[in-house]
Amino acid sequence: MNIMKGYHESVLLTEAIKALDIKIGEWYLDLTLGDGGHSEEIERQGGKVVGIDVDPQALKRAKERLKGAILVQGNFRDIENLISSQTELKDKKFAGAIFDLGVSSLQLETPERGFSFGKEGPLDMRMDLTLGVTALDLLKVLSEKELYELFKSLGEEKYSKLVARALVRAGKITTTTDLARIVEKVVGRQGKIHPATKIFQALRMVVNDELGALKEGLEEVSKKIQENGRLVVISFHSLEDRIVKNTFKGWEQAGLGKILTKKPIAPGVQEIAGNPRSRSAKMRVFEIL
Ligand SMILES: C[S@@+](CC[C@H](N)C(=O)[O-])C[C@H]1O[C@@H](n2cnc3c(N)ncnc32)[C@H](O)[C@@H]1O
Repeated sequence: MNIMKGYHESVLLTEAIKALDIKIGEWYLDLTLGDGGHSEEIERQGGKVVGIDVDPQALKRAKERLKGAILVQGNFRDIENLISSQTELKDKKFAGAIFDLGVSSLQLETPERGFSFGKEGPLDMRMDLTLGVTALDLLKVLSEKELYELFKSLGEEKYSKLVARALVRAGKITTTTDLARIVEKVVGRQGKIHPATKIFQALRMVVNDELGALKEGLEEVSKKIQENGRLVVISFHSLEDRIVKNTFKGWEQAGLGKILTKKPIAPGVQEIAGNPRSRSAKMRVFEIL
Protein backbone atom coordinates (compact mmCIF):
# COMPACT_ATOMS: atom_id res chain seq x y z
CA MET A 1 0.00 0.00 0.00
CA ASN A 2 2.80 2.38 0.85
CA ILE A 3 4.49 1.73 -2.48
CA MET A 4 1.21 2.60 -4.25
CA LYS A 5 1.19 5.95 -2.47
CA GLY A 6 4.78 6.45 -3.53
CA TYR A 7 6.12 6.65 0.01
CA HIS A 8 9.79 6.14 0.83
CA GLU A 9 10.35 2.46 1.52
CA SER A 10 11.50 2.30 5.13
CA VAL A 11 14.74 0.38 5.58
CA LEU A 12 15.00 -2.35 8.26
CA LEU A 13 11.49 -1.42 9.39
CA THR A 14 10.68 -4.60 11.32
CA GLU A 15 14.13 -4.84 12.88
CA ALA A 16 14.23 -1.18 13.92
CA ILE A 17 10.79 -1.17 15.53
CA LYS A 18 11.50 -4.46 17.31
CA ALA A 19 14.75 -2.97 18.63
CA LEU A 20 12.87 0.09 19.94
CA ASP A 21 10.66 -2.30 21.93
CA ILE A 22 7.58 -0.06 21.71
CA LYS A 23 5.55 0.37 24.91
CA ILE A 24 1.95 1.53 24.61
CA GLY A 25 1.48 5.19 25.51
CA GLU A 26 5.23 5.97 25.70
CA TRP A 27 6.90 8.71 23.61
CA TYR A 28 9.47 8.04 20.85
CA LEU A 29 11.66 10.47 18.97
CA ASP A 30 12.01 10.05 15.20
CA LEU A 31 14.92 12.31 14.28
CA THR A 32 14.76 11.68 10.54
CA LEU A 33 11.04 11.64 9.92
CA GLY A 34 11.16 11.53 6.07
CA ASP A 35 7.89 10.04 4.86
CA GLY A 36 7.13 8.86 8.39
CA GLY A 37 7.40 5.13 7.69
CA HIS A 38 9.13 4.25 10.95
CA SER A 39 6.90 6.66 12.88
CA GLU A 40 3.76 5.15 11.40
CA GLU A 41 4.78 1.74 12.68
CA ILE A 42 5.60 3.17 16.14
CA GLU A 43 2.08 4.65 16.26
CA ARG A 44 0.55 1.42 14.99
CA GLN A 45 2.15 -0.42 17.92
CA GLY A 46 0.74 2.10 20.40
CA GLY A 47 3.68 4.49 20.82
CA LYS A 48 3.50 8.28 20.54
CA VAL A 49 5.81 10.16 18.22
CA VAL A 50 7.75 13.39 18.09
CA GLY A 51 9.10 13.65 14.54
CA ILE A 52 11.91 15.94 13.41
CA ASP A 53 13.07 16.64 9.87
CA VAL A 54 15.11 19.45 8.42
CA ASP A 55 13.08 19.35 5.22
CA PRO A 56 9.65 21.06 5.47
CA GLN A 57 8.34 18.94 2.56
CA ALA A 58 8.91 15.80 4.63
CA LEU A 59 6.84 17.16 7.51
CA LYS A 60 3.99 18.00 5.18
CA ARG A 61 3.80 14.50 3.73
CA ALA A 62 4.34 12.65 7.00
CA LYS A 63 1.60 14.70 8.68
CA GLU A 64 -1.01 13.13 6.41
CA ARG A 65 0.14 9.68 7.34
CA LEU A 66 0.52 10.01 11.10
CA LYS A 67 -2.27 10.24 13.65
CA GLY A 68 -1.12 12.14 16.68
CA ALA A 69 2.55 12.90 16.10
CA ILE A 70 4.07 16.23 17.10
CA LEU A 71 6.17 17.35 14.13
CA VAL A 72 9.04 19.82 14.40
CA GLN A 73 11.15 21.23 11.59
CA GLY A 74 14.87 21.52 12.20
CA ASN A 75 18.26 19.87 12.17
CA PHE A 76 18.71 17.02 14.64
CA ARG A 77 22.03 18.56 15.68
CA ASP A 78 19.81 21.08 17.59
CA ILE A 79 17.58 18.51 19.33
CA GLU A 80 17.70 20.30 22.67
CA ASN A 81 16.51 23.63 21.24
CA LEU A 82 13.96 22.05 18.92
CA ILE A 83 12.35 20.11 21.72
CA SER A 84 12.42 22.84 24.31
CA SER A 85 10.84 25.21 21.79
CA GLN A 86 7.63 23.14 22.17
CA THR A 87 6.07 23.93 25.52
CA GLU A 88 4.48 20.49 25.88
CA LEU A 89 7.84 18.80 25.32
CA LYS A 90 10.03 20.85 27.65
CA ASP A 91 12.26 18.54 29.77
CA LYS A 92 10.64 15.49 28.18
CA LYS A 93 12.57 12.23 28.09
CA PHE A 94 11.79 9.55 25.53
CA ALA A 95 11.40 5.78 25.69
CA GLY A 96 13.40 5.51 22.48
CA ALA A 97 14.80 7.37 19.50
CA ILE A 98 15.65 6.54 15.92
CA PHE A 99 17.95 7.98 13.25
CA ASP A 100 17.48 6.66 9.70
CA LEU A 101 20.17 8.69 8.00
CA GLY A 102 20.56 10.12 4.51
CA VAL A 103 17.96 11.28 2.03
CA SER A 104 14.44 10.05 1.32
CA SER A 105 13.05 8.75 -1.98
CA LEU A 106 11.03 11.95 -2.23
CA GLN A 107 14.20 14.04 -2.11
CA LEU A 108 16.03 11.70 -4.49
CA GLU A 109 13.23 11.70 -6.99
CA THR A 110 12.48 15.42 -7.05
CA PRO A 111 14.81 16.73 -9.79
CA GLU A 112 14.77 20.35 -8.53
CA ARG A 113 16.41 19.23 -5.29
CA GLY A 114 19.51 18.17 -7.20
CA PHE A 115 20.07 14.73 -5.62
CA SER A 116 19.16 12.71 -8.70
CA PHE A 117 21.70 11.75 -11.34
CA GLY A 118 19.06 10.37 -13.66
CA LYS A 119 16.82 13.44 -13.86
CA GLU A 120 18.05 16.86 -14.83
CA GLY A 121 18.02 19.48 -12.09
CA PRO A 122 20.17 22.21 -10.54
CA LEU A 123 23.17 20.93 -8.58
CA ASP A 124 21.65 21.87 -5.23
CA MET A 125 21.62 18.89 -2.78
CA ARG A 126 20.60 20.92 0.28
CA MET A 127 18.17 19.06 2.56
CA ASP A 128 17.66 22.37 4.34
CA LEU A 129 17.00 25.08 1.78
CA THR A 130 18.15 27.79 4.16
CA LEU A 131 21.75 26.50 4.03
CA GLY A 132 24.08 28.77 2.09
CA VAL A 133 26.24 26.40 0.03
CA THR A 134 25.00 24.14 -2.76
CA ALA A 135 26.83 21.32 -4.55
CA LEU A 136 27.36 23.65 -7.50
CA ASP A 137 29.07 26.19 -5.22
CA LEU A 138 31.42 23.44 -4.05
CA LEU A 139 32.28 22.44 -7.61
CA LYS A 140 33.02 26.06 -8.40
CA VAL A 141 35.25 26.86 -5.43
CA LEU A 142 37.12 23.63 -4.72
CA SER A 143 40.45 23.00 -6.41
CA GLU A 144 41.21 19.77 -8.26
CA LYS A 145 43.16 18.54 -5.23
CA GLU A 146 40.35 19.41 -2.82
CA LEU A 147 37.80 17.67 -5.03
CA TYR A 148 40.05 14.62 -5.23
CA GLU A 149 40.38 14.48 -1.44
CA LEU A 150 36.64 14.90 -0.98
CA PHE A 151 35.74 12.14 -3.45
CA LYS A 152 38.35 9.84 -1.95
CA SER A 153 37.47 10.31 1.71
CA LEU A 154 33.69 10.69 1.57
CA GLY A 155 32.93 8.99 -1.74
CA GLU A 156 35.51 6.20 -1.30
CA GLU A 157 35.69 6.46 -5.10
CA LYS A 158 38.53 4.51 -6.73
CA TYR A 159 38.78 6.94 -9.64
CA SER A 160 38.68 10.12 -7.51
CA LYS A 161 41.76 11.65 -9.08
CA LEU A 162 40.50 11.15 -12.63
CA VAL A 163 37.01 12.40 -11.78
CA ALA A 164 38.39 15.55 -10.10
CA ARG A 165 40.58 16.26 -13.12
CA ALA A 166 37.73 15.68 -15.58
CA LEU A 167 35.41 18.02 -13.63
CA VAL A 168 37.96 20.84 -13.50
CA ARG A 169 38.73 20.42 -17.22
CA ALA A 170 35.06 20.27 -18.17
CA GLY A 171 34.60 23.86 -16.99
CA LYS A 172 30.94 24.80 -16.97
CA ILE A 173 28.81 22.26 -15.15
CA THR A 174 25.36 23.39 -14.03
CA THR A 175 23.05 20.41 -13.78
CA THR A 176 22.92 17.00 -12.12
CA THR A 177 22.96 15.29 -15.49
CA ASP A 178 26.06 17.28 -16.62
CA LEU A 179 27.87 16.00 -13.55
CA ALA A 180 26.57 12.43 -13.93
CA ARG A 181 27.63 12.32 -17.58
CA ILE A 182 31.19 13.45 -16.87
CA VAL A 183 31.60 11.01 -14.01
CA GLU A 184 30.18 8.15 -16.08
CA LYS A 185 32.69 8.87 -18.83
CA VAL A 186 35.56 8.49 -16.37
CA VAL A 187 34.27 5.66 -14.20
CA GLY A 188 32.43 3.65 -16.84
CA ARG A 189 29.29 1.64 -16.23
CA GLN A 190 29.37 -1.67 -14.39
CA GLY A 191 26.32 -3.40 -12.99
CA LYS A 192 23.11 -1.73 -11.88
CA ILE A 193 24.49 0.98 -9.58
CA HIS A 194 24.91 4.35 -11.30
CA PRO A 195 28.63 5.18 -11.64
CA ALA A 196 28.08 8.68 -10.21
CA THR A 197 26.51 7.39 -6.97
CA LYS A 198 29.64 7.83 -4.83
CA ILE A 199 30.48 11.28 -6.20
CA PHE A 200 26.94 12.52 -5.59
CA GLN A 201 26.99 11.07 -2.09
CA ALA A 202 30.30 12.77 -1.25
CA LEU A 203 29.06 16.20 -2.39
CA ARG A 204 25.75 15.74 -0.57
CA MET A 205 27.52 14.84 2.66
CA VAL A 206 29.57 18.03 2.57
CA VAL A 207 26.71 20.31 1.53
CA ASN A 208 24.67 19.10 4.52
CA ASP A 209 27.62 18.53 6.91
CA GLU A 210 26.14 15.10 7.51
CA LEU A 211 28.98 13.68 9.61
CA GLY A 212 29.17 16.79 11.80
CA ALA A 213 25.40 16.76 12.34
CA LEU A 214 25.49 13.06 13.25
CA LYS A 215 28.22 13.52 15.89
CA GLU A 216 26.35 16.40 17.50
CA GLY A 217 22.94 14.73 17.15
CA LEU A 218 24.16 11.57 18.91
CA GLU A 219 25.53 13.53 21.85
CA GLU A 220 22.32 15.54 22.15
CA VAL A 221 19.96 12.59 21.89
CA SER A 222 21.73 10.62 24.62
CA LYS A 223 20.47 13.24 27.11
CA LYS A 224 16.90 12.86 25.90
CA ILE A 225 16.41 9.12 26.41
CA GLN A 226 15.00 7.81 29.65
CA GLU A 227 16.30 4.86 31.66
CA ASN A 228 16.06 1.57 29.71
CA GLY A 229 15.23 3.55 26.57
CA ARG A 230 16.78 2.49 23.29
CA LEU A 231 18.55 4.38 20.54
CA VAL A 232 18.46 2.89 17.03
CA VAL A 233 20.73 4.26 14.29
CA ILE A 234 20.51 3.15 10.65
CA SER A 235 23.44 4.43 8.59
CA PHE A 236 24.37 4.06 4.93
CA HIS A 237 28.04 5.05 4.81
CA SER A 238 31.09 3.44 6.42
CA LEU A 239 32.18 6.75 8.00
CA GLU A 240 28.73 7.24 9.53
CA ASP A 241 28.76 3.70 10.87
CA ARG A 242 32.22 4.27 12.36
CA ILE A 243 30.97 7.37 14.20
CA VAL A 244 28.00 5.43 15.59
CA LYS A 245 30.15 2.47 16.58
CA ASN A 246 32.77 4.61 18.35
CA THR A 247 30.20 6.81 20.05
CA PHE A 248 28.37 3.76 21.42
CA LYS A 249 31.70 2.28 22.61
CA GLY A 250 32.54 5.52 24.41
CA TRP A 251 29.11 5.61 26.04
CA GLU A 252 29.42 2.01 27.20
CA GLN A 253 32.88 2.66 28.67
CA ALA A 254 31.50 5.74 30.45
CA GLY A 255 28.75 3.62 32.02
CA LEU A 256 25.91 5.32 30.13
CA GLY A 257 24.40 2.03 29.04
CA LYS A 258 25.07 -1.00 26.88
CA ILE A 259 25.51 -1.83 23.22
CA LEU A 260 22.81 -4.28 22.12
CA THR A 261 24.34 -5.00 18.70
CA LYS A 262 27.89 -6.35 18.94
CA LYS A 263 27.79 -6.52 15.14
CA PRO A 264 25.59 -4.18 13.10
CA ILE A 265 22.31 -5.55 11.72
CA ALA A 266 22.07 -5.49 7.92
CA PRO A 267 19.11 -6.07 5.60
CA GLY A 268 18.58 -9.60 4.30
CA VAL A 269 18.80 -10.56 0.63
CA GLN A 270 15.06 -10.25 0.21
CA GLU A 271 14.97 -6.66 1.44
CA ILE A 272 17.93 -5.73 -0.75
CA ALA A 273 16.30 -7.34 -3.79
CA GLY A 274 13.08 -5.39 -3.19
CA ASN A 275 14.80 -2.15 -2.22
CA PRO A 276 18.35 -1.85 -3.59
CA ARG A 277 18.83 1.43 -1.70
CA SER A 278 18.92 -0.63 1.51
CA ARG A 279 22.03 -2.52 0.40
CA SER A 280 24.51 -0.46 2.42
CA ALA A 281 22.36 -0.08 5.55
CA LYS A 282 23.78 -0.93 8.97
CA MET A 283 21.77 -0.70 12.15
CA ARG A 284 23.21 -0.34 15.65
CA VAL A 285 21.26 -0.25 18.90
CA PHE A 286 22.18 1.16 22.34
CA GLU A 287 20.27 0.91 25.60
CA ILE A 288 20.55 3.77 28.07
CA LEU A 289 20.82 2.61 31.70
C1 LIG B 1 16.09 8.13 4.90
S1 LIG B 1 14.98 9.44 5.19
C2 LIG B 1 13.99 8.85 6.51
C3 LIG B 1 12.88 7.95 6.07
C4 LIG B 1 11.90 7.56 7.15
N1 LIG B 1 12.53 6.83 8.21
C5 LIG B 1 10.76 6.75 6.56
O1 LIG B 1 10.65 5.56 6.88
O2 LIG B 1 9.94 7.31 5.82
C6 LIG B 1 15.99 10.61 6.00
C7 LIG B 1 15.30 11.92 6.34
O3 LIG B 1 16.14 12.56 7.31
C8 LIG B 1 16.20 13.92 7.06
N2 LIG B 1 17.48 14.40 7.61
C9 LIG B 1 18.72 14.07 7.20
N3 LIG B 1 19.64 14.71 7.96
C10 LIG B 1 18.94 15.44 8.88
C11 LIG B 1 19.33 16.29 9.96
N4 LIG B 1 20.61 16.54 10.24
N5 LIG B 1 18.36 16.82 10.72
C12 LIG B 1 17.04 16.57 10.46
N6 LIG B 1 16.62 15.80 9.44
C13 LIG B 1 17.56 15.22 8.67
C14 LIG B 1 16.10 14.05 5.55
O4 LIG B 1 15.58 15.32 5.20
C15 LIG B 1 15.16 12.90 5.18
O5 LIG B 1 13.83 13.34 5.09
